[in-house]
Amino acid sequence: MSKQKQEFTVIAGQNIPRHIAIIMDGNGRWAKKRFLPRFAGHAKGVKAVGKVAKACVDRGVEYLTLFAFSSENWRRPPDEVSLLMKLFRKVLVGEVKNMCANNIRLKVIGDIGRFDEDLQKLIHDTEEKTAANTRLTLTICANYGGRWDIVNACNALLRSGVQPGEITEEILSEHLSMSYAPPPDMLIRTGGEARISNFLLWQMAYSEFFFTDTYWPDFDTDSLDEAILSYQKRERRFGRTSEQLVKEGLAAGQ
Ligand code: IPE
Ligand code: IPE
Ligand code: MG
Repeated sequence: MSKQKQEFTVIAGQNIPRHIAIIMDGNGRWAKKRFLPRFAGHAKGVKAVGKVAKACVDRGVEYLTLFAFSSENWRRPPDEVSLLMKLFRKVLVGEVKNMCANNIRLKVIGDIGRFDEDLQKLIHDTEEKTAANTRLTLTICANYGGRWDIVNACNALLRSGVQPGEITEEILSEHLSMSYAPPPDMLIRTGGEARISNFLLWQMAYSEFFFTDTYWPDFDTDSLDEAILSYQKRERRFGRTSEQLVKEGLAAGQ
């Protein structure tokens, strides 16, 4: 049965999440279902990234953060890891023009010191080339782990000479690798699993979660709109009651 488009039409301009984070999962299973090597799923997944980034630009999303390679993904077979690195290089080189055409600023966060030096340089160069773009900040999380991020922030604080009792939530947040962005309003995970897999642990304290069985390579503009529509129907209470939100003018759309 064909998808009823109307069902997924987002409420334009109203309560669009400022920051969407995505765990792009299911590339391997997408390929397996088609009797293709896992890598074919990763390659197709890159195409979905381009489409979703453009759709976010069109919808006025300001930050899109994508989990591309986790601290734990080094445990994969070495040939899959090296193919993923090759693909990452290819995307950085090939997409810089498109990013600039769409006014997209690229950021890469994670422990990139573990990557080959030429890849590290390519990451920095691409970040620099897109640094002045203002419409959407696209963050790629590469060799990223939420625990690594928190430990990294603690070490940075200690190096700065912070004393016991001086650390606050605000100060710690400022030392996390995505301190330039507000916390994600919504987390989308494709591929049917309902877990965080060591993604943005600190930053997701109040994110709205949206899990879908769709494999990442099949995730398209309609899938994004379905997620945004679900987000728009939710009431974010941040500990308050519904009645308080209405009274204090904090309810969505107020
Ligand atoms: C996500 O897809 C991409 C990465 C982790 C790099 P997977 O490769 O995890 O796909 P599945 O979960 O095996 O289907
Ligand atoms: C999470 O996917 C990491 C990325 C999408 C990059 P995985 O497929 O590696 O997650 P687990 O190991 O199944 O939880
Ligand atoms: Mg997976």
